[in-house]
Amino acid sequence: MGMNTIASSLVVVTLVVAASGCGGDGAPQMSEPATGAADGGGGFVDGGTLGPAGGDSAVPTMRTEPDPPSNAQSCVPDPAVFERDILPILDARCGACHGETTQAGAPFALTDYAAMVAGEPGKRISDRTFAALAQGTMPPAGNLRPPPSEHDMLVGWASCGQEQPEYPTGLVASRPIFQAPVEPPVGTELVELRAERFALPAGTTDLYQDFFFDGVVSDEVFVRRMDVAVDRPRVVHHITLHYHGDATNYLYAWAPGTGAVEFSDGGLRVGPQDGFRVEIHYNNPTEVDEVDSSGVQLWVAPPEGREYAMLDPATFAIQVPPMGTATAEAECVAANDFTIVAGMPHMHEIGDTFLHTVTRADSGQTETLIELEGWSFDLQFFYSMPMEIRTGDTMTIRCGYRNDKDRTVTGGLGTTDEMCFDFIYVTPRSASSPCGNGFGRGLP
Ligand code: HEC
Repeated sequence: MGMNTIASSLVVVTLVVAASGCGGDGAPQMSEPATGAADGGGGFVDGGTLGPAGGDSAVPTMRTEPDPPSNAQSCVPDPAVFERDILPILDARCGACHGETTQAGAPFALTDYAAMVAGEPGKRISDRTFAALAQGTMPPAGNLRPPPSEHDMLVGWASCGQEQPEYPTGLVASRPIFQAPVEPPVGTELVELRAERFALPAGTTDLYQDFFFDGVVSDEVFVRRMDVAVDRPRVVHHITLHYHGDATNYLYAWAPGTGAVEFSDGGLRVGPQDGFRVEIHYNNPTEVDEVDSSGVQLWVAPPEGREYAMLDPATFAIQVPPMGTATAEAECVAANDFTIVAGMPHMHEIGDTFLHTVTRADSGQTETLIELEGWSFDLQFFYSMPMEIRTGDTMTIRCGYRNDKDRTVTGGLGTTDEMCFDFIYVTPRSASSPCGNGFGRGLP
């Protein structure tokens, strides 16, 4: 897999007592975008903890009840335009489910003008179609959206030419962000695991570099909070934290956008025998040499409360044709009961939609754990997704891709390969083995 290893002597471990109330290391900022030209003169950029929600373009939209067109009371969409322009689009883009015989649980057909405009203005199918398109909630995740020109025709028709909502490209999430408090928990100590002054000569692409940190703690502790310190955002693609020696056992994952994670009632257990492996995925395709000192920050405390672990449902069985779309799917059956608290879906640049569902063993019903539309590599968050999983329940992850390149994109580790992961925190820790490797993935 081309992993490189570096002796721990090359890295510096610092142990600092976190002063609660101090505005230093723990102060949240937005991370700079990975593609940003400005690099802030070499100062550390704290790991992208989000400020309070509101007004920040980087915050995904929560799905809400869609609004009909504002002129719904007076608008009667044109029947002739429907027959000539709209019906062919609905047929092509929506007909698989909203055809004369509806499929896949679609509530109505989108084939008949009279039915589209029947009923109370604001609640007609034409109004709901407008709303679903304006919000980007239809077609469902994993299905191809009508292209912008068709989108404009549909919303224009349904609002009698009055409204032209923007093509929905922003990130839409079915769950709120798992927001860590601004200040680390009182009584915790800060442990920094940094790859000090790591050289990235110009033209270094897709380097997965391991840094090992052993003997970091002398007593058993719980990691209560985790964050990253990104030094040179331009070259850091993503960072993962693992127990040393256990390739599959994650503690934390960071990609552009991700903020701090904090457990309100416990943490991840680490003992003197556990080392850490920090894996940093660097990418410096430019002509400029770079030196980076990024790393992970841990806030630790004596072991009290609930013990968590990270599970990583994933698949690398991804194949997206040139200029086409595809989905990758994997599932696993829970071998015991556990509780999910939060998770971070992860894909790369041509990711489009993400869906993680749970199908109950007893009722056969499927519930959505998390659904994302309008994926952006620069907006990767942990979402709050509390859910009880019971033995026999099936977890399914499904990633949708939209390939704008003229080559096939497959699963793999490179920046231009694709991934499909959901990094989820579960409790108790003993639940982490049965499902963690149950997805049968294998690196290509
Ligand atoms: C893969 C199947 C599928 C496709 C393709 C699809 N839909 Fe749907 N649609 C559904 C299902 C299932 C529901 C009901 C559940 C829901 O609302 O998510 C639904 C619900 C709707 C609703 C009702 C939403 C509401 O509650 O007001 C509208 C309107 C709609 N679809 C419009 C469209 C349009 C327009 C397209 C094409 C651009 C489309 N759908 C494509 C499956 C589909």
